[in-house]
Amino acid sequence: MKISLYLLSVLILLPVSLQDPSPEVKKPTRAHAELTNHGFPIGLLPLSVNDYFLNQTSGDFSLFLNGACKITLPPDNYIATYSNKVTGRISQGKIAELQGIRVRAFFKSWSITGIRSSGDNLVFEVAGITAKYPSKNFDESLDCEGKRSSS
Ligand SMILES: *[C@@H]1O[C@H](CO)[C@@H](O)[C@H](O)[C@H]1NC(C)=O
Repeated sequence: MKISLYLLSVLILLPVSLQDPSPEVKKPTRAHAELTNHGFPIGLLPLSVNDYFLNQTSGDFSLFLNGACKITLPPDNYIATYSNKVTGRISQGKIAELQGIRVRAFFKSWSITGIRSSGDNLVFEVAGITAKYPSKNFDESLDCEGKRSSS
């Protein structure tokens, strides 16, 4: 009786333990949901957000990616580089005091210091000037370029 119970449990548990640990399915996270809640498209962030903190009162947030991350932003194919840690303050339609996102343009790397949502557009503040792009360019959250080792 003991043995057959043992066998039974082995048979039940076996299929589970034999399965490969399924590759981590990347899907939009809570950080992406907060973007949506505040009127921003999820494509402002890469897919791989590891950790995310938001002070609901002040809107101060920190998010941690899985290491630095590079994505190519449509439509002009600017290379955006995300630091491992990105911080800022989010409120409805506005992200201020942004730190940790840079874009490469005109042979230089520029810090994006703020983003505003304005109608169908996003207004990026870069080095004291602003650049406007249709929000729909950011409807999709992209994966970081260059595969990292999975660990
Ligand atoms: C959240 O922000 C409020 C207002 O700035 C501040 O008083 C509070 O201490 C913050 N909470 C945390 C957990 O940092």
